[in-house]
Amino acid sequence: MLLGKNKISFLHLPTPLDHLDNISEDLGIDLYIKRDDMLRLGMGGNKLRKLEYLAKEAINQGATMLITEGGAQTNHGRLTAAVAAKLGLKCAIVTADKYPGEISSNLLLDGMMNCPVYFKAEDGLHSQNERFKMCAEEVIAKYESEGETVYFIPLGGSNELGTLGYYECSMELTRQAKDSGIENALIVTTVGSMGTYMGLAVGLENENSKLDLLGIAVMPYPNGIDTHAAKYLASVNSYFGINANPEFNIRTDYDRGAYNNPVKEVRDAMYYMAKKEAIILDPCYTGKAFAGLLDMIKKGEIPKGSSVIFLHTGGQPGINTPHHRVEMEKDLDNYIHII
Ligand SMILES: Cc1ncc(COP(=O)(O)O)c(C=O)c1O
Repeated sequence: MLLGKNKISFLHLPTPLDHLDNISEDLGIDLYIKRDDMLRLGMGGNKLRKLEYLAKEAINQGATMLITEGGAQTNHGRLTAAVAAKLGLKCAIVTADKYPGEISSNLLLDGMMNCPVYFKAEDGLHSQNERFKMCAEEVIAKYESEGETVYFIPLGGSNELGTLGYYECSMELTRQAKDSGIENALIVTTVGSMGTYMGLAVGLENENSKLDLLGIAVMPYPNGIDTHAAKYLASVNSYFGINANPEFNIRTDYDRGAYNNPVKEVRDAMYYMAKKEAIILDPCYTGKAFAGLLDMIKKGEIPKGSSVIFLHTGGQPGINTPHHRVEMEKDLDNYIHII
């Protein structure tokens, strides 16, 4: 595969792989965390690794502007804005969501990094996919008519090229795990649009790593996760001219019924991580995955003594989105004392 020379390096890799002493002792497992939330630029997160490759292609194609799509509070949008700012490109985000009514969390950061967000909300006439398409077409046409050359990045940066970011990370993790004496560890990652999982799965297989991989889906997949994974893998194989055939291992029983919903068990898992290790997870992705991991450990599905690497993919601005913040405020108001 074509790594390295096909990207613009702005991340100063590798990210740390840290042992979580307190939780390891508490749970009787050997737990590590891979700190991709500490990737430089725009408050960090997994999408930056994909964007090193996507930005290179954009520059090669003479782009002056990046446009991407996502939910109103998309982390990927915020990190696309960050990369654009750093590289001196314009940026815009398009979404089919409703304006949430306040400029908080990622929306605030998008504005700070000079990136407008365009909303085409529910109109009773068009499906979400149609509204995404209409919004993107309208915004692209607007900027092209102003003389910009637009490079469009799909949802989550999860296309074929975007998988290279986590293909590369699989090699980084293999080296770090070897240095830490945990070559056979299990990597646990959250699964959204699947680019992170796919890059890791293809990379680990293609590079003969001994590391194992487990994904935890954070939302239901309307046509089934296996169908999505098989289709994505086929397009990655044909794009790179390879024949990867990794075994997929993705749990769908911790999706909690919807994307980005407030869930008590997820918040409890976040509080546990914060109170034991001073590491902040997010309520949409990493909190959900960590809650799933804790449950599997509790049930013995991940046996005592196992070596596990939890991938922290970022997303912490999400704790300030109104529907999560309100629930957390209720949980935590006993920490405030006015004396
Ligand atoms: C913080 C965070 N973690 C995980 C993911 C999921 O990554 P992927 O879409 O590659 O599955 C995302 C996607 O938006 C994210 O923002």
